[in-house]
Amino acid sequence: MAQCILIGFMGSGKTTVGRLMAETTRTPHLDLDELIIAQSGQSINQIFAAHGEAYFRDLESQVLRSAMRAEGILSTGGGTPVRKENRDLLAQSGIPVIFLKASPEVIRARLKEASDRPLLRKLSARQFVHLHEEREAYYAQAADLTVVTNHRKPADIVREILTRA
Ligand code: S3P
Repeated sequence: MAQCILIGFMGSGKTTVGRLMAETTRTPHLDLDELIIAQSGQSINQIFAAHGEAYFRDLESQVLRSAMRAEGILSTGGGTPVRKENRDLLAQSGIPVIFLKASPEVIRARLKEASDRPLLRKLSARQFVHLHEEREAYYAQAADLTVVTNHRKPADIVREILTRA
């Protein structure tokens, strides 16, 4: 079973913090997007373009279930807790679920260069803030613990998780 699951918006630090936490605790790091890419043989962009978001969400939900059974620190995708069944699964898993919380300003600055987030490309600034707000409610429902990541070093965030989770 996974030791810890990280959730939060794109650019909140799930992958960076997850990698460092895995290294620190000497356990594997599991990245849901990477597992989806490995299983499908396609990039996230390719999956969205060829099959659409609903298909991606089905695949994501399926891969989440197997990843939660594997040993390691699991970094999810920003949209993983959007489906209620996934939120319930996370909340009831008995595995510590950590919500990495970052402000829309910090996230926008971090993601400026990123071209591999198909969902972000078509959003206006207002739509982005709206999506962020809507998603935060979902993350809060699924999480056992919230850790703010704005302007903090990954090592500091990992320390907080390890002392509080
Ligand atoms: C998504 C987040 C991405 C990836 C996909 C959809 C989302 O993961 O799963 O592009 O809906 O927020 P990251 O949060 O790791 O960028």
